[in-house]
Amino acid sequence: MTEKSLKTLPQPFKILALESSCDDTGCAILSSDGTLLAQKLHSQEEPSQLGGVVPEVAARAHLRHISEITQKTLKEAGLELKDIDVFAASTGPGLIGGLIVGANFAQGLALSTGKPFMAINHIEAHSLSPLISPSPLRSEKGVTPYLLLLASGGHCQLIGVKNVGNYTYLGGTLDDSCGEAFDKTAKALGLGWPGGPKLEKLAQGGNPKAYALPRPLMGRDHCDFSFSGLKTAVLRVIQPLSPEGLEKESPNIAASFQKAVTDILKDRVEHAIKRFPQAQALCVAGGVAANQSVRSTLEALASKEGMQFYAPPIKLCTDNAVMIAWAALLRLETGASTKVSAPMIRPRWPLSEMNF
Ligand code: KG4
Ligand code: ZN
Repeated sequence: MTEKSLKTLPQPFKILALESSCDDTGCAILSSDGTLLAQKLHSQEEPSQLGGVVPEVAARAHLRHISEITQKTLKEAGLELKDIDVFAASTGPGLIGGLIVGANFAQGLALSTGKPFMAINHIEAHSLSPLISPSPLRSEKGVTPYLLLLASGGHCQLIGVKNVGNYTYLGGTLDDSCGEAFDKTAKALGLGWPGGPKLEKLAQGGNPKAYALPRPLMGRDHCDFSFSGLKTAVLRVIQPLSPEGLEKESPNIAASFQKAVTDILKDRVEHAIKRFPQAQALCVAGGVAANQSVRSTLEALASKEGMQFYAPPIKLCTDNAVMIAWAALLRLETGASTKVSAPMIRPRWPLSEMNF
């Protein structure tokens, strides 16, 4: 397959990117001048019917939708396949079945058109989402170093970003992701899936001090997270309740749980700030970034620490193909080539391997 770099690509060039690492099938076309030419996202219905993402079911759904989503995106941009200069796809980390579908589809398009293919690390794409134009953190002078809290359904990590291709992994969850803790607690409270937004709404009518829930690892001198003990503690509160008792208490349980998660995230971020003092900004991405309690607490922390606070628009915080296209563009602009140096699919792919 042809290998290209910024010097050998036409100017401006167009990137078509695919995202299929979990339960969203996304396609985006980005011009190298930063103009988003088109994007489509199909969020699968199956997880809300099944109460969560079932990897095999998700992979089959990607297979059903990927071709149509790609065609619709090309149509919206008024382009044909031959107009695309670079194809890109998430090739890890994520659910292997979905990654195989997206990466093979994109690679097939690249092979058939004689254009290069770029394998994109999904966590790097989330990490670079605060740099998507218009961004307060990227200018002619370069990138403002930032600390990123990625809190989604699949991930919970703290990453220091000095520049594109210069990442420091500070810590991550030892068990459940943050979004998973929201989803499992919401399920125990009888709310639908995904539970995060529903739990947040319920918590608005509750007392966050009603239940003394644990805050695992809080105060520890590292940046790792643990949510499974908190989830179990909530289950212990719920189990003895009668259906009427649960109905009456559920806003209080939701509010107490949300406060515990917010306290944990704040504490872990405070530790990360100490370990990555270069950071001039605090950023948050992933679905949990939509939570107002989490957001306002982190915003207040950033202001106390004299840091800028920035969260990309929520549709760029959750899984999407726009961030995959931007990760490809930012890497090319920073001197990377389209060469695929990693094995094709990486269900586990440490971010440290993306450092230049
Ligand atoms: O980034 P995303 O789409 O994650 C992956 O699929 O990995 O985020 C989805 C996660 C779900 O766990 C969802 O419950 C959670 O983000 N979430 C929220 C809120 N909105 C979405 N959690 C708490 N509060 C919210 N408002
Ligand atoms: Zn993701």
